Amino acid sequence: MKRKSPDDEFLERILAAGAILVNIGDIDILLEQILTEARFFTNADAGSVYTVEGSVLSFCHSQNETIVSRGQRIPYTRFTIPISTASMAGYVASTGKILNIDNVREIPDEAPYSFDDSYDKIAKYRTKSVLTLPLINNRQTVVGVLQLINARTHQREFVPFQSKMELLGKYYATLGALALERAMMTRTLLMRMVKMTEFRDPKETGQHVNRVGSYAVAIYDSWANANNVSDKDQILNRDILRMAAMLHDVGKTGISDSILKKPGMLSEKERTVMEKHCEIGAQVLHNCESTFDEMARDIALNHHENWDGSGYPNQLAGEEIPFMARITSIADVFDALCSRRAYKSPWPDEKVLEEMEKLFLNKFDPELRVHFISQFEALKEIRSSYPE
Ligand SMILES: [Fe+2]
Ligand SMILES: [Fe+2]
Repeated sequence: MKRKSPDDEFLERILAAGAILVNIGDIDILLEQILTEARFFTNADAGSVYTVEGSVLSFCHSQNETIVSRGQRIPYTRFTIPISTASMAGYVASTGKILNIDNVREIPDEAPYSFDDSYDKIAKYRTKSVLTLPLINNRQTVVGVLQLINARTHQREFVPFQSKMELLGKYYATLGALALERAMMTRTLLMRMVKMTEFRDPKETGQHVNRVGSYAVAIYDSWANANNVSDKDQILNRDILRMAAMLHDVGKTGISDSILKKPGMLSEKERTVMEKHCEIGAQVLHNCESTFDEMARDIALNHHENWDGSGYPNQLAGEEIPFMARITSIADVFDALCSRRAYKSPWPDEKVLEEMEKLFLNKFDPELRVHFISQFEALKEIRSSYPE
């Protein structure tokens, strides 16, 4: 067999990256993956991805290798900028054109857009070259913007993006836009199911389920990285987990208001009815036709099982409890401790950590303790990006 040239390998990687995108269903996981792969094949040091939300661009995800290598964290902050030609991303969103700038500090005065260096100042970073691509769907509408920052040589010197990257980027952005549209539709459908649950139980808000989904992925990623899970499996599992964990309490739609909205303590009988939400959730998701359905059902049915067998509905113990349900249970309890409830204020971090440590002695999978602890700062960042 003929040996592959570096060019062949490069092309193979781009084609494989496209194939991965079309299999991702969750919008956050997809945006992260679009950015990771685009940075890989353009050898960009950093980048951000935005989605179009009405008249604004919503900043969803950013990566920066230099900042991470200094041991600094990239904040999960979400912000919006107006879709206008005044910024580079806004210009690309409003015109649908690709913008390839060799040096942002040499943008001519007559250009409609300018470079905002506030991020550089805060992060002590130096942006030089920027390739900004529109994500255009098949109705020719811009649904997002992908921005790649500082192309690098092998010696890690910052250089301009080659013009062939514009073409490759365009091809990749088209695949990304199609996948993004589908993921937006999936998210809308999931959020409608969550909204129905929220009508019954006001604690089950969209922000709560988004936090639980993201916490679960952070814990899973830490576990997967420590257990040599292949990249392909990790990408697919984290995608499905992000969505499936959101539906953990979908069974509450089947519990009456007199119990769900009761202000005081539940009686023994009422608690037994309340506990039925796990089985009802499993019934809602019972037609298991895909890996997603199966995981969502496992989580809905088992997220109140305890490691020592003292949980419900089936008193499963240890590894009898499906793994993703064990992860979601940690995420759900952590969020409840950090949140305001009718009977309590949000707990301070030290008290939350203390309580979680206790729960790792009997309720949670002890193998996951180290992953929860190592992700604690990341979980707090997720918490602040989905406030009530
Ligand atoms: Fe529950
Ligand atoms: Fe919940």
